[in-house]
Amino acid sequence: MDTIYTEWNQNLSTKIERIDKQHQELFGRINALIKAMREDKGQEEVLNTLKFLEEYIIIHFGEEEYLQRRYNYPNYLAHKAMHEKFVEEFYKLKLEVINGKPDSFFVFVIKEKLSDWLFKHINHIDKNMAGHLLEYMD
Ligand SMILES: [Fe+2]
Ligand SMILES: [Fe+2]
Repeated sequence: MDTIYTEWNQNLSTKIERIDKQHQELFGRINALIKAMREDKGQEEVLNTLKFLEEYIIIHFGEEEYLQRRYNYPNYLAHKAMHEKFVEEFYKLKLEVINGKPDSFFVFVIKEKLSDWLFKHINHIDKNMAGHLLEYMD
């Protein structure tokens, strides 16, 4: 597998199936964006994948935050702040994608800012959250 694409793997499991599925989908959509940018598939394809990704990010963060509130996760506010920071960063990238040309350096920046961030976030922050949720969820 090309290292520019990040795949979900078992080590990233939160042990909450629904959340894991969403994380897999997120990597899939980031990869689709990277692929569209790299293969110069045309701006329309790039913008479409970007839009799908954006919607999915909002859905996923929303669900995690809902579960945290529902089960009184003590780190809720800090976790939410990280999601918000990421969304802010995403919007900045989105503008660059809309206005710019997808050269190989920019594709690399996208990988770093999206997949690498997601990987680290899942591995530490989401796993921590899931540990708490699993104690209280039915
Ligand atoms: Fe997550
Ligand atoms: Fe999260």
